Amino acid sequence: MPFIVIAVDGGAASGKSSTSRALAQKFNLMHVDTGAHYRTLTLSLLDAGIETPEALTADLSVLSRLTPGTEVRGQEAMMSVGGHVPADNEIRNDRVNAAVSKFAAVPALRKCLFDYQRGQKEVARERGFAGLIMDGRDIGSVIFPDAELRIFLTADPEARAARRAAEGIADSIAERDKADASRKTAPLACPQGAWLIDSTFLTLEEVVAKIAGKLKTLL
Ligand code: DC
Repeated sequence: MPFIVIAVDGGAASGKSSTSRALAQKFNLMHVDTGAHYRTLTLSLLDAGIETPEALTADLSVLSRLTPGTEVRGQEAMMSVGGHVPADNEIRNDRVNAAVSKFAAVPALRKCLFDYQRGQKEVARERGFAGLIMDGRDIGSVIFPDAELRIFLTADPEARAARRAAEGIADSIAERDKADASRKTAPLACPQGAWLIDSTFLTLEEVVAKIAGKLKTLL
């Protein structure tokens, strides 16, 4: 059986995680939401009293104390810090939204996650999954440029804002996209050779079906 890696990138609320989750269920893949990794580290830093990237850069030693672990629940692999996986409402709120892109621009913090995220491939293999589907901003460009399939999801800002509103979540989509796309290290961009899918006028099911058609030829 071939083991495949699928990289799914895109801006905030582009549908990356919902699409990846649905594909993981359909094809027995392990799903990793790397946005949650950055959110979890951001929460740990804020809780440690480190409020700005400048404060972090002034004392990077805190990063070595944030040892990541993995907890697999169904198809989902969640990152723990200090043995604890934070609840969704702890990492998806205004406090974390306002800080996460700023911390995600710090190269030392991204470096911390590089080996951990690459290592998820082995976790998925050991657990008997048919492959790994990882979503984020730099998966097809930096973490798995060698992935069997690299996808970049996009949608008009209005469509993305409407999706978040429908989920009942207030999010700083435009601000985060601007910060994520303009940073020096691993900026948000469609990697060369990736499959660009505009989902503005597509439902989640249609996007999933489109990618599933391609995946069937790879598995
Ligand atoms: O996917 P998300 O919106 O939950 O991601 C939260 C933030 O994490 C996002 O604004 C930028 C950062 N991020 C990143 O820099 N690289 C990734 N691979 C995933 C997320």
